Amino acid sequence: MAKLLIFTDIHIKGDTIIGLDPVTRFKEALTHALAHHSDAQGIVLMGDLTHSGTVGEYNLLKDILVNVPLPITFMMGNHDRREAFLQVFPKARLDSSGFVQSSFDVGEWCAITLDTLDGPPYPDKHHSGMLCADRLAWLSDQLEQAKEQPVVLCTHHPLGELGLPMLDRIKLENGSDVIDLIRKHPMPVHVLAGHVHRTISGQWQGVPYTSFKSTCHQNTLNLAQQHDFMFVDQPGAYGVILSDGPNIIVHSEDYALSQQDGLSDTLS
Ligand SMILES: [Fe+2]
Ligand SMILES: [Fe+2]
Repeated sequence: MAKLLIFTDIHIKGDTIIGLDPVTRFKEALTHALAHHSDAQGIVLMGDLTHSGTVGEYNLLKDILVNVPLPITFMMGNHDRREAFLQVFPKARLDSSGFVQSSFDVGEWCAITLDTLDGPPYPDKHHSGMLCADRLAWLSDQLEQAKEQPVVLCTHHPLGELGLPMLDRIKLENGSDVIDLIRKHPMPVHVLAGHVHRTISGQWQGVPYTSFKSTCHQNTLNLAQQHDFMFVDQPGAYGVILSDGPNIIVHSEDYALSQQDGLSDTLS
């Protein structure tokens, strides 16, 4: 069984976010994951690596990752800036057009990681995602090359709506183009998403997906049409993906809660 660790929306910053220190939170999550899942074949950081996309923040992230013994795949989120990221991580895997996209095998499954950052230019307070024609063509090629494999597709921005109006406004703007491509794939596809700072699962037009919590701050479940973003201090999480032959299993680990002592009981 192959195992992949997923961290999303770590929002590294040299200051607190709603009173929480994203650096401490990410270090705790990473320490927990490496202690319990040292047999993982790799880590995917699914975007919003930093809070403001500055070189200083990427250097902070680099310092945290310096002794991580597993291969790391980076993705871009709306809070990232590709040029600053590449100054600090010049060896990150890119596609032939320079976007932070890659693919690799996880057991029988093919993992494809998308770069959904809309820009440059980066309009102020513009947080929705976009997969331009070049990136869509790259995805189409990757799916063609993996036509005999099931695919786990990692995207920072959700491809469709989640019933959360504020977040639905900033999803992937052309997510329907990606869903159309996925639906043509002859093997199963499971989508993993970040961006929403909540654990959610469902289907978009028959395409199953799971989104993950941030390691730091979380969104509330607010289904109202009009509201502001309300971030809250709830336990952070990371994902553990198990690729088991033709099956895939998606776990979300609330690492701070799992450090608590469990109480044993019988099943009788
Ligand atoms: Fe985020
Ligand atoms: Fe985001």
